[in-house]
Amino acid sequence: MKLPKGLAGVVVDQTKVSSTKNAVLTYAGYPIKELKDASFEEVVFLLWHTRLPSSDELTAFRKRLVSEMVLPDHTVQLIARIAKEPQHPMSILRTTVSLLGTTNDVKRDDPPRILAKMLTAIAAIIRIRDGKPIEQANQNWGVVKNFVYLFSGEQPTAERVKMFNTVMVLHADHEFNASTFTARVVASTKSDDYSCLTAAVCALKGPLHGGANERVFEMLEAIRETGQDPVGYVNEQMARGRKIMGFGHRIYKDGDPRAVILRVIAQKISQETGNDEYFALQEQIREYMFKKTHLHPNVDYYTALIYHCFNLDKKTFTMMFAACRTAGWLAHVIEQQTEGCLIRPSSEYVGETNRHYPNKEG
Ligand SMILES: CC(C)(COP(=O)(O)OP(=O)(O)OC[C@H]1O[C@@H](n2cnc3c(N)ncnc32)[C@H](O)[C@@H]1OP(=O)(O)O)[C@@H](O)C(=O)NCCC(=O)NCCS
Repeated sequence: MKLPKGLAGVVVDQTKVSSTKNAVLTYAGYPIKELKDASFEEVVFLLWHTRLPSSDELTAFRKRLVSEMVLPDHTVQLIARIAKEPQHPMSILRTTVSLLGTTNDVKRDDPPRILAKMLTAIAAIIRIRDGKPIEQANQNWGVVKNFVYLFSGEQPTAERVKMFNTVMVLHADHEFNASTFTARVVASTKSDDYSCLTAAVCALKGPLHGGANERVFEMLEAIRETGQDPVGYVNEQMARGRKIMGFGHRIYKDGDPRAVILRVIAQKISQETGNDEYFALQEQIREYMFKKTHLHPNVDYYTALIYHCFNLDKKTFTMMFAACRTAGWLAHVIEQQTEGCLIRPSSEYVGETNRHYPNKEG
C-alpha cells in the first residue's frame, strides 16, 4: 500500500469546528464569505460553541475578553527581557506563551482569558521591540479595536477596524492544518491549554505554514529594491528549485477563498497608505504565476501587504497569524479534550531488518 506523504487527504478524526470540504471553508457550517463581516468575538464564540451567540451572550463574551486584555506587570517585565533579544519574534512568542502558562495565575485552562492574554502579549512584544510604551485596553471598545490600538499605539478608524476584523476572522480557523493538528495531539495527552498553544506556535513558525507571510513581503521588497522584473524573479527562483511564497495550497487547488476576500482589502488599504506599488507588483506576480504554474495565491499572499499597511514589521507577521489562529487552536483543544482520545498513529517501518548486534566478547 502506498502511504500518502504528509498525511495528504487522510481523514484522521472528526470535527464540528470547521471544514474545507469541496474547497469551501466553513466555520461550524457557516461559509466564510458570509462570516467575513461578523465580529471576531462572534466568530470565536461560534468556533468554541459551534453556534452563534445571542445578543446578550455576545455582549457578555466581548466584555469578558476585553476585561482580560491586560498583563500583570511582572509578566510584562519577563516578556520585555526576552523581547529585546535579537531572536525572531516567533521564538519570543514561543517562550512567551509558555511563560504565560506559568505566570498567568488563577485558573489554568480558561479559553477567554487565554485568548485575551495571547493578543495582549503579542501586542506587548511588538511595542517592546519598537521601544514604545505598553498601552492599556479601553473597556468600551471591542477586541479588534483594542488589539490594533495595543500593537500600534494609535486609535484605528472604524474602517481600519473592519479591515483588521476580517483578517482576524479569515485566519481564525482552518480545520486540521499543521499547527492545529499539533495542538490537538498535545491536547489528546490531557496536557494543559498553554502547552497545546506553545506547541501550535512552534508548528506555525515554519515557512511552509504561518511563516510564509513574512517571506512574501521579503520577496516584494527584494524585487522593489533591486528593480528586478517580477517575471525574471519568479523564473530565477523556480529555476533554483525554490517555491514562490504565498502560492499553492494543500487543499485549495483552484484558489484559496480567503485570498479572494483579502485581495480586495489589500488593494484598498495599499491605495490609502501609499503602498499601491506593492499591490501592483503582487498583481504582476499573481498573473505570471498562474500562467506558468496554474497556482493561485493563498491566505498569506495578500495578508503580508495588509500587515505592512498597518505599519507592522515583516518579522511580526507570523505572530499576527498566531494571534488570529489562537481562536481556532483553542476551539480544537476544547473539542479534543471533550470528545477526543489519545492521538497515537502507527508508522510503516522501512529501515533495515534482521540485523544482529555483534558479540564483542568473542
Ligand atoms: C502550501 C504548500 C506547502 C502546499 O504543498 P503541497 O500541497 O504539498 O504541494 P507540493 O509542495 O507537493 O507542490 C506540488 C507541486 O507544485 C509546486 N509548487 C507548490 N507550491 C509552489 C510554490 N509556492 N511555488 C512554486 N511551485 C510550487 C511544487 O514544486 C510541486 O511541483 P512538482 O510536482 O513539479 O514537484 C506549497 O504550495 C508551498 O510550499 N507553498 C509556498 C509556501 C506557502 O505559501 N505556504 C503557506 C500555505 S497557506
